[in-house]
Amino acid sequence: MFYDDAGFRLFERITTLPEYYPCRTERQLLEEHAENIVMSACGSARRLRIVELGAGSACKTHILLAAALRQGIEVIYMPLDVSADALETACESIAEAFPPVRVLPQVVNYVSAPPQLSPFIGPTLALYLGSSIGNFKPCESRTILRNLGTQLKADDSFLLGTDLVKEESTLIAAYDDSQGVTAAFNLNILMRLNRELGSNFDVNAFRHSVRWNADESRIEMHLQSIRRQVVEIPLAELELHLDKDETIHTENSYKFDDDALRTLLSQTSFRWELMWKDPQQWYALTLSRKAAYA
Ligand code: TRP
Repeated sequence: MFYDDAGFRLFERITTLPEYYPCRTERQLLEEHAENIVMSACGSARRLRIVELGAGSACKTHILLAAALRQGIEVIYMPLDVSADALETACESIAEAFPPVRVLPQVVNYVSAPPQLSPFIGPTLALYLGSSIGNFKPCESRTILRNLGTQLKADDSFLLGTDLVKEESTLIAAYDDSQGVTAAFNLNILMRLNRELGSNFDVNAFRHSVRWNADESRIEMHLQSIRRQVVEIPLAELELHLDKDETIHTENSYKFDDDALRTLLSQTSFRWELMWKDPQQWYALTLSRKAAYA
């Protein structure tokens, strides 16, 4: 629901906001450790398949592709995403920046079904960046990683980007920026519902509300009704009765610590190998290996 055209544009702006540290922190970590990541994934092989879940515009992937090419490695890049538009943009920019890379995009929903990867001779490096794993409930994230695991060979690598638990005010600010871009991104859902399902949401009768749920270790995004109101959603055959201050819970963003990451990976057929964090320990890149069993 978030990522229609307007939503994509707003999200691009979110990634450049001063309060939204995850994106730039992940980029810095990739820049610093790209050589090492590629070398660990490749071993003595001279070719590498890079598979990326939820590739989106794939702009951070450029860093890894550049590092692989610098090492003289032949690269096959498979971006997977639900959005055909995002994939097209990603493929164009990669074809332009890295002509030697073979790009094999796949429009798939990696949440509802395992991605189908063809057998590959040589190592595969799977990527799941942007802390997108945090937008799923723990049981869903386990399914996503287990499904990914079924498509990998023993010792193939998996690089996971995750946002970490930190001071509440820093977390809240990242999802409630002073320019109101994240608020606009959240409220955009209502405009999309009005357009696509014929609903009559009054966008001005809702406010963006962000909460830290410590028990669940997640940031929650809500749309809070500023008055008692009734909303019709004809194409969903729904009539919503909202009290003043009642909320529509639109999104979660789970935050991790080392223990949670170790457990998540070990429960889903991966062996934790290396972890890189920024000096403030706000964000982590974890490199793990597909276990031989399972
Ligand atoms: N994966 C991103 C995150 O959880 C997505 C995101 C950033 C997001 N800002 C948002 C999702 C605001 C919903 C609303 O950080």
